[in-house]
Parts: sequence; structure tokens; C-alpha cells
Amino acid sequence: MPIRWLWRVLPVTVLMFLLAGCSLDGEQSTFSPVGPVAQDQLDLFMWTWYLSIPVMLLVFGVLAFVIVRYRRRKGDDSIPGQTHGNVLLEVIWTTVPVIIVILVAVPTVRSIFAYQSYVEAGDGDVAINVVGHQWWWSFEYPQYGFTTANEIHVPVGSKMVLDLDSADVLHAFWVPRIGGKVDLIPNQSNQLWLQADEEGVFHGQCAELCLGAHAYMRFRVVVESQEEFDAWVEQFQQPEIQAVSSDPLVSQGRTLFAQKGCIGCHSIDNYQEGVSYGQPNFPNLTNFGLRHTVGAGLEEATLENVASWIMDPQEMKPGNYMPTLWQADDPNREAEATAIAAYLLSLGVDETVADGGSDDVAGDLLAATAVVGSAFNPAGGN
Ligand code: CUA
Repeated sequence: MPIRWLWRVLPVTVLMFLLAGCSLDGEQSTFSPVGPVAQDQLDLFMWTWYLSIPVMLLVFGVLAFVIVRYRRRKGDDSIPGQTHGNVLLEVIWTTVPVIIVILVAVPTVRSIFAYQSYVEAGDGDVAINVVGHQWWWSFEYPQYGFTTANEIHVPVGSKMVLDLDSADVLHAFWVPRIGGKVDLIPNQSNQLWLQADEEGVFHGQCAELCLGAHAYMRFRVVVESQEEFDAWVEQFQQPEIQAVSSDPLVSQGRTLFAQKGCIGCHSIDNYQEGVSYGQPNFPNLTNFGLRHTVGAGLEEATLENVASWIMDPQEMKPGNYMPTLWQADDPNREAEATAIAAYLLSLGVDETVADGGSDDVAGDLLAATAVVGSAFNPAGGN
């Protein structure tokens, strides 16, 4: 009976592993490196793995041999030959492991020194100050003087020099296909440098259990040509001011962005020239329309997803700190959330009618402050 049971369970178990998505070229697979750090980490892993194969064969081989050859036989109660004090054996099983440990340790230490020693961002390198928040990422580009969130852009082949800090608990910065991972620790500046030699959008993930929405604390690294990167930087250094749009939905969304209080937390440099209303402990939404995702790498930034996010952030990412701005039975909820989403998605991409709008910015801000004061729990971001 147990054997028949085993035959039933075994195929399911094997299938479970086969179907569990053990892919070598997945979005977050360390087996598809696109830069020197990830490549070196993979090489180190493979070297250790290759070294372990003869060890495994030897140990299991000897084990199997001993179990069969020296098993207890009926009527034989004699004590087997003792090996204690055998000098040759002692020398062999001391020196061989020492050699193996040296073979693993030397390349490991070499890699640690190569990738975890302090680096100054030089010409052509991109310095990025990373701050981990529950549960999103702030990325400041000190060389260019702006801050964004949840999406890094870098030119292909350049070195990104990351200073890592945390606003609350421990997080860890990890882009499996480019390299990592290093912890972000409050009040301690850690550093990491990475390089991507292939253009594309690469998935990053917080790799340190940081409570609540840890699994949803994701980000993207966009590796692009130098020209594309320069254009992206320019968008942030001189954000297009979105005062009035020819799209009424976008204009309505802009007004609502202030009226509903979004502006009290989230900075948007596209809102009004030279003014940033939000706070640094919430995601900066400048040029949000250029982003690939909403909710810190959670969903594609489509109108529908962004609207769903604004309408009910807790539904998409349970436990995050963004409040819901409408009563559940508010008939305008969906329409207003969609307008705000349309406004956000237009930032940095849409044609704009620069200034000349009849906006009452002071009035908007007053309304926003009132909402912030009454409805917000100012504890964090999305
Ligand atoms: Cu941040 Cu896990």
C-alpha cells in the first residue's frame, strides 16, 4: 500500500518542481546576467557548484558502498575493523577539504573586494542615491539635481554607483540580472556599483523582508542609449509644466490632483514652475507618464491600472500607506480616479499648453492642505 501511494505522489511531486517556473531566462533570473557584476557572481556560483559535484559523488558513492559492503549480516556479531588513528586517512580528509575551501575562498574574497570596495562616481558614471521606504524606492540623481521613484534610468555600459540608505527598516537592493544585493540600513550608508551592458528594462526587487508589502517593493532599471538617457535627464531638469491640456480629462485630473490632496504628499515638478509641493518621504511623481509601472513595479502603468491604484491602493497592494480618497459609495470615485490617472500619465509625454491657464494655484493648495490635515495618516508613501 505505501508503495502504491508513493507511485501516485511521485509524479505530482516531480511535476510540481518542473512546473514551478524554474526558468533560466526569467525576468529575475541570475542565470541570465547582462553585466560584469552579475556575470562574476554567476561564475562564482558555477565554480562552487562544479567543485561540489565531485564532493557529492565521492560522499554519496562511499556512503552507498559502505551501506552495502559492510551491512550487518545475520549471525555476525563481531566488531568491524577500526580506522581511528589511521594517519593516512586523517591526512587525506584534512588536506582535501582545506584545498577545496581555498579554491572557493580565493575567488570569493577577490569578488567581494572587486565589487564592495568604495567607489567614487567618475566621469561617465551615474551616481544614484537610493533610499528604501516601506514599500517603494526613492532614486536621487545628485549629478543632475533631481529625484524620482521606483524607476532607474542608466546609459548602457556605464557604471551606476549606488549609495544605499533606508528611511525606516532594512531593505535590500537587488536587480538579479544586473547584480546585487546589498542591504539598505537606516543611518548607515552602504554602497554598490553595477553595470549593464545590454539595453532593456530589468526587474528589481527588495530582497530583505521589510514587513507588509515587502514582496511588492519592486522597481525597474531602464538601460538605454546615451542619447535616450540624456533626453530623459533633460525631461527632469526642465520638466514640462502641465498647466492646461487640450484633453479635458487631463485638465480635470490636474485640478483633482490638488483638490483631493494628492499634491500634499507627492511632488510633481510639472505642476507649476519652480514649485514642488510634496514631501520627500512620498514618491516623487514628476514625469510619471514616462514610468513603466505603478505601485512600485507592481503593475504596468496603463490608464486602467493607475486609476485602480488611485481608487483603492489597499486593494492592489495591501498594507501600503497610501489612503483611499473617496468613500466606497462615492458615485464620482471611478471617474475622478480615472481623471487623475490621465493627468499623471500625461506628465512628461503629452503636448501641453504651457502656462496661461487660469489656475488658482493658491486655492488648490489651500484645499489640498485641508484634505491633508483631515484625512491623511502621514506615515509613508505607496
Ligand atoms: Cu523592502 Cu523588503
